[in-house]
Amino acid sequence: MKPLDVVRDTIDAALEFTVAGSFSLIGPAIRRRLFDWRPIDGRGVRDQVAVVTGATSGLGLECATTLARLGARVILLVRNAELGLRLCEQITGSTGNHDVSVIVADLGDLVSVRRAAQELSRLPAVHVLVHNAGAMSASFKVSAQGIEQTTAVQLIGPFLLTNLIRDQLQTGCARVVWVTSGGMYAEALDVDWLESPAHDYNGVRAYAKVKRAQVSLVEEWGPRLAPLGVTMTTMHPGWVNTPGVRHSLPTFSRLMGPFLRTPAQGVDTILWLVTTAAGSTPPGTLWLDRRIRSPHRLKRTRRSDTAAQRERLTQFCRGRCGLDEVPGPTR
Ligand SMILES: NC(=O)c1ccc[n+]([C@@H]2O[C@H](COP(=O)([O-])OP(=O)(O)OC[C@H]3O[C@@H](n4cnc5c(N)ncnc54)[C@H](OP(=O)(O)O)[C@@H]3O)[C@@H](O)[C@H]2O)c1
Repeated sequence: MKPLDVVRDTIDAALEFTVAGSFSLIGPAIRRRLFDWRPIDGRGVRDQVAVVTGATSGLGLECATTLARLGARVILLVRNAELGLRLCEQITGSTGNHDVSVIVADLGDLVSVRRAAQELSRLPAVHVLVHNAGAMSASFKVSAQGIEQTTAVQLIGPFLLTNLIRDQLQTGCARVVWVTSGGMYAEALDVDWLESPAHDYNGVRAYAKVKRAQVSLVEEWGPRLAPLGVTMTTMHPGWVNTPGVRHSLPTFSRLMGPFLRTPAQGVDTILWLVTTAAGSTPPGTLWLDRRIRSPHRLKRTRRSDTAAQRERLTQFCRGRCGLDEVPGPTR
């Protein structure tokens, strides 16, 4: 490694260590210069089918709009059809791309997810799938199928959708990106909690636990999908000024206001992951600011993330979806 690379890595690691420096807008401002970030090269996604969940707001809307600007055939997967159609027009108006459409799905309702998957499976291929939809629940709620709401929307729904359109993803040599959160660093992989979440419910912790489960699931599942040509990774966007953050964490949002990332900074790594050569983005890895990050900062969370717990997690997801097959290349 060249001495300059060592210096760059040291500065990056120091920034990562501070958390606030890394997750706020200071992170991309420094790393952009440090690693000489190139503008996103959209040639790889031109005319490709890109599905973005939660595309009505914040990061999802920003991601869908940029993909449209890059010339992708964008599908907004949203639960509010009317709003989705309005946003299609808005995106077409601002980007000149007319190939923007809507599929309606509530990610927390498996019947709705199956319906959306059926629509997507009429396409020959899906090239990009961004699992972005998500929210924090203030209180304990369950989905139509009786699954805790955060788990349903951000773990089980995306898991089912990915499984049901696996042929399209395989044909498209797809990039699948899960948008997780740095909040998961505080939480262990806790399958016991996923199985019985009602006790002593705390919405912020529930969110972080589900985000942790996303990262563990993808670390386990990504390498198994790789032989099919599908590259699955997770990323966390840092702290971003979105309607979601303003609504769910108003005090944090007010205090951090000037230091929050813009949505464009928040989605940069998603766009980078779906436009960079698959060989540079190993399956199952976690990313922030165009670099692989450790999924753990604490011994306690690392200890929880065992092969046995991951196997339980996979079984849990499969069971809640009613899938009687193990995800991966063998059906
Ligand atoms: N902003 C941050 O600092 C930050 C940090 C870490 C991680 N993230 C993650 O980034 C993602 C986007 O967050 P954001 O900040 O952009 O939030 P946001 O502005 O609230 O957007 C969330 C999106 O998710 C959709 N959604 C929520 N529940 C859904 C459901 N059941 N079915 C379908 N769509 C659903 C919302 O749709 P509706 O319009 O229908 O509500 C909306 O489009 C989330 O996964 C979040 O956890 C954000």
